[in-house]
Amino acid sequence: MADNDKLAIDGGAPVVDEPLPTGVSGPSVVDEEEIAAITDLLRSQGLFRYRQGGQAAQFEAEAARFLGVEHALMVNSGTSALICALTAVGVGPGDEVIVPGYTYIATAAAVIATGAVPVIAEIDESLGLDPLLIETKITPYTKAVVPVHMRGVPARLDDILAVAKKHGLKVVEDCCQCVGGSYRGQRVGTYGDAGAWSLNYYKTISSGEGGLVYTNDRDVFERACFTADPGLPMWTKSDTSVEWQNESFPRQTYRPSEVLASMARVQLGKIGDILSHQRALKAAFLQELDESGSYSLQHVDDPDGDTGVSASVIVHDKDLAIGYEHALKAEGVGVGTIYNDGFPDRHIYSYWDTILAKRSPHPSGYPWNDPSYKGDVEYSEDMCPQTLDILGRSLRFDFNMNMTEEHARLMARALNKVDGALGN
Ligand SMILES: Cc1ncc(COP(=O)(O)O)c(C=O)c1O
Repeated sequence: MADNDKLAIDGGAPVVDEPLPTGVSGPSVVDEEEIAAITDLLRSQGLFRYRQGGQAAQFEAEAARFLGVEHALMVNSGTSALICALTAVGVGPGDEVIVPGYTYIATAAAVIATGAVPVIAEIDESLGLDPLLIETKITPYTKAVVPVHMRGVPARLDDILAVAKKHGLKVVEDCCQCVGGSYRGQRVGTYGDAGAWSLNYYKTISSGEGGLVYTNDRDVFERACFTADPGLPMWTKSDTSVEWQNESFPRQTYRPSEVLASMARVQLGKIGDILSHQRALKAAFLQELDESGSYSLQHVDDPDGDTGVSASVIVHDKDLAIGYEHALKAEGVGVGTIYNDGFPDRHIYSYWDTILAKRSPHPSGYPWNDPSYKGDVEYSEDMCPQTLDILGRSLRFDFNMNMTEEHARLMARALNKVDGALGN
């Protein structure tokens, strides 16, 4: 064995000898522009969104243009955006909504917040919903399906949309982790009945917290607006440009602050640069990988729409995944696996303990024991074996704005080295 083939975990020289830069997408590019925008806003003392030419309204118009969509509503989080979208498409008590077993717990919690029951479905090697297995979860009570574009990679939308159409299901796309991503030339979130962005700290663009719900359907948009503010249409009474076509109803308050909106506008202006940098990193990583790798790459239906923030490889078995993780760490490259130490990964359904236990905020036990719910959904930690198997064999490489293409190539070289030694 050549000296530089010896794994660092066995005493060889690591591929990466200086810590790789860390960071997340949006927050890493915060500079004087955001500071100036927020400062100007504070000086104006105009912190409430319902005023002429407000920041939230301008962000919505700019985001709608970016998305190529008719209507967009800014809210205070991605979870709020999902709740608004689900409520707006008609989801409520008695309904079931299919969500993937690999997503942040908020996707399922948003379903519960509408009074409906989440049904957890398998993912496949795309790390998104397995379109072939969605049908096994459909019951007479299924109202909607929520494809989640995880870790910046668009899900298998063509096939998921076909299943939804066949069964008359509403589609709400959870784009919280794929802000800026697209699919077959159109932004993710514009294929379903509504889409949801998160602008929280970890996302492509960020205002610390924040969200956006968007749609081409005027009625869905209006219902989302009512869901986000029980005071509508009162607030817009004096604004002659706003004409509601639907009756309002009272729900929660998910209004964003103008402070968030002023920052979101600046960040949206940077999204093109963020996406091109991340995509260049992922391309450099993929190009550097040995063709003879013993693993498979995550399936990506439309690589052009990928936001480039992560790349996942899938090895043959769980023990190998753990071995790769340890060996890569010694080479100076941290990878995400479901075995990482620390707090449980809330992106895997088996850790959604509050949901698996059907824990309700109310003694009635709603939504599972709601009298209008006639289904009998059951949960268990091992209910999605395919999901656990695939995630158990997946290694995720994350890219960030502070990395250069050379960093991405080093990450690939570390994988090449580890795979050369451990793969078979
Ligand atoms: C896939 C997914 N859905 C929903 C959310 C909820 O977004 P927020 O934290 O802005 O409420 C997140 C946030 O991490 C997410 O990753």
